[in-house]
Amino acid sequence: MDYYRELFDLIEKQHKWRGSCINLIASENVTSPAVREAIVSDFGHRYAEGLLGGRSNGIQLFDRFYQGTRYFDGIEAIAMKLAEDLFGAEHANVVPVSGAIANLTVYNALTHYGDKISGLRVEAGGHISHTHVSCAGVIGLKDVPYAFDEREMNIDVDRSRETLLKEKPRIMMLGASVFLFPHPIRELREVADEINAKIVYDGAHVLGLIAGGRFQDPFREGADVFTTSTHKTFPGPQGGMILCKNELASKIDNSAFPGLTSNHHLHHVAGLAVALVEMQKFGREYADQIIRNSKALAQAMYELGFSVLCEHKDFTESHQVLVDVSSIGGGDRVANDCEKANIILNKNLLPWDSLKDAGNPSGIRIGVPEVTHIGMKESEMNEIAEFLKRVVIEKEKPERVKKDVIEFMKDYNKVHYCFESELGAYENIRFK
Ligand SMILES: Cc1ncc(COP(=O)(O)O)c(C=O)c1O
Repeated sequence: MDYYRELFDLIEKQHKWRGSCINLIASENVTSPAVREAIVSDFGHRYAEGLLGGRSNGIQLFDRFYQGTRYFDGIEAIAMKLAEDLFGAEHANVVPVSGAIANLTVYNALTHYGDKISGLRVEAGGHISHTHVSCAGVIGLKDVPYAFDEREMNIDVDRSRETLLKEKPRIMMLGASVFLFPHPIRELREVADEINAKIVYDGAHVLGLIAGGRFQDPFREGADVFTTSTHKTFPGPQGGMILCKNELASKIDNSAFPGLTSNHHLHHVAGLAVALVEMQKFGREYADQIIRNSKALAQAMYELGFSVLCEHKDFTESHQVLVDVSSIGGGDRVANDCEKANIILNKNLLPWDSLKDAGNPSGIRIGVPEVTHIGMKESEMNEIAEFLKRVVIEKEKPERVKKDVIEFMKDYNKVHYCFESELGAYENIRFK
């Protein structure tokens, strides 16, 4: 077996295949050519261990343990400054290598073993890293689930307040993986002050919307800390970031390094900095189009007979659309059939499911960040809704729909909302 050839063959196939698929995974995106150039740069070979060493004229200075970081120091300082400006944060830390690690870093900084953390149940859209099965459990935290309003698809503030006053979590997590509507930060700030809790807003899913001035403004509304991934609606490389108030900065920085990360994947920091520049320039237009697209897709699917959640609230204020498919095959079957038609989306628990249903939940979660980033608008959302109807409701052979999807995708091979380049959105960069 020639593994060398086999590996590059698989990489080539991946590019070709995914470029001919409609990608509706809410947590994915494609990066711009400029971000891709940063990711393959020499920084991917290097280390820059070290603590942050203060500021001069608003720019971070570094105290490194390794030599050879003179240009990377500039990049990390620019990434931090851009992130602070774009998200209205007093301090940014770009060390965490993923959103889950960003959460773990904050828990490690702000809690003690055995403390409590409030968050949404996974069935209600909470992320596992907010619960005992993942990062919160690793660090010995006990879950305090919020009460959830299934009709409004949001935290039930009044019922949650009672629980919070009784259980007194140290950290109140907000933000979620199923995230249709802004979370009630303002409404929960008072109770956080009463129980001396910190509000940590996990904006992993909605970072790109917030960068464009949409969805919500976590610090202005009362969050103490803002954790995130950098690659869902925000079109950066896969990675993580923590934004916080100055009073928490040194605890959080120390928890990131030397606490939980040694090498912070410098090429990803370079890619993040480039994506931050892009969002500064193109973010508003991009975020506006994402929300227009998700609403248009939801409306079109609803009119074609899908059971789209929250019709009474215009379906969504984010990049996500949630659909109950329990009566037309269930989430597992629908997601599999769609994949056969080159439409990639994921099955998802709905709030009334049990964790035991995770294999075949009632729902599918649809996201429009990637299709928006490659230039699709409302009319294309109508076409996508039609494809979905043919596969899921009319049960047409997926292989037949696939042919039309491949044709459709031929017109969408460039990344938009970024600086000009000849490189295709799904083009494989070859060096050999
Ligand atoms: C709300 C939320 N937080 C954190 C994460 C974890 O992010 P990462 O995959 O970057 O570790 C996710 C992942 O989907 C998420 O949805």
